[in-house]
Amino acid sequence: MSSSLDARRLKEGYCLGIESTADDFAVGIVSFDGEILANVISAYSPEKGGIHPREAARHHANVAAKVIGEALERAGLKAKDLSIVAFAQGPGLGPCLRTGATAARALASYLKIPLVGVNHCIAHIEIGRKVCKVSDPVTLYVSGGNTIVTAFAGDRYRVFGETLDIAIGNCLDTFAREVGLTQKGGVPLGAMIENLAKKGKRFIPLPYTVKGMDLSFSGLLTRATQLFKDGGYRLEDLCFSLQEVAFSMLTEVTERAVAHTEKREVLLTGGVAANRRLQDMLRVMTEERGAEMYVVPKQYALDNGVMIAWTGILRYRYKGALSLSESGIRPKWRVDEVDVPWRRGERSDAS
Ligand code: ATP
Ligand code: FE2
Repeated sequence: MSSSLDARRLKEGYCLGIESTADDFAVGIVSFDGEILANVISAYSPEKGGIHPREAARHHANVAAKVIGEALERAGLKAKDLSIVAFAQGPGLGPCLRTGATAARALASYLKIPLVGVNHCIAHIEIGRKVCKVSDPVTLYVSGGNTIVTAFAGDRYRVFGETLDIAIGNCLDTFAREVGLTQKGGVPLGAMIENLAKKGKRFIPLPYTVKGMDLSFSGLLTRATQLFKDGGYRLEDLCFSLQEVAFSMLTEVTERAVAHTEKREVLLTGGVAANRRLQDMLRVMTEERGAEMYVVPKQYALDNGVMIAWTGILRYRYKGALSLSESGIRPKWRVDEVDVPWRRGERSDAS
């Protein structure tokens, strides 16, 4: 934090956070004392297949002004009431990140207020710590684009394990599309797999790949898809087996991180955190270790602007504003590259 920042000024004010790393354009507004005032999300859902970064970015550009306006209205604020603007600087898809960054820069410069860049993965952890009132967890962040086991150690969030290829959400979604499921009525493909898996009775062995502390899902996806196409297996049994194998892998790596760090809390976040079977497996593991498991509520576990606004506040307190030249996007920004000064000495206002 630049010493010239006036700490008193930071007690009152509002941060607007913009999230646009992938298929959602989302805006959140949080007051400096931590009250969540607005959480508005506009999801881009392609008719078919996965995300096309440029099409998603076009969606974000089309809805940006409307979503920002709606968030201000929900918060009961005018744009001039904002004190800082935060945006997800990375990691994510280049065209999508660029659209969010452009909107954030334009808003901050129009209002002549500071601009703050936030790491998307750290934002997931920080909002989870805040809403679940957790202080020092091992976090399992599982979504369409990410699979990371991380915990605070030394002066930053360290990656204890991560996927070597595709993310778990991507694995579930691709399998779902390969077997002919299509998204309907806002039910995520992963949730459709979960529902089918509940009717599964027979376990079909599939590749279980944990290398050191890292995970690989592509062999599992290929094999499950191949078995479906070969015929002879019930889809329900394949969904059940896919979940059992993938979630056991995630539980194993998370358990080893808990054992290594001796942390007493596990935080589960990201879109896949909604899965009851994954929650149950992790809960059994954490209870056996005498630790506690927390699941981040859906509205804050999915990509959202609130997590960006809140982490923007934490970061601004210590690091101040970004200059325009520092505000470029960082598509490959890793959690372990980020300085986390607000956790130095574990200040109580950061939790
Ligand atoms: P990120 O940028 O963080 O990777 P994303 O937009 O890809 O985000 P999220 O919105 O956090 O991901 O989550 C979407 C993923 O969550 C999809 O892969 C979806 O299938 C999965 N998902 C949602 N509900 C469930 C569920 N009940 N079980 C398993 N997976 C689920
Ligand atoms: Fe995310």
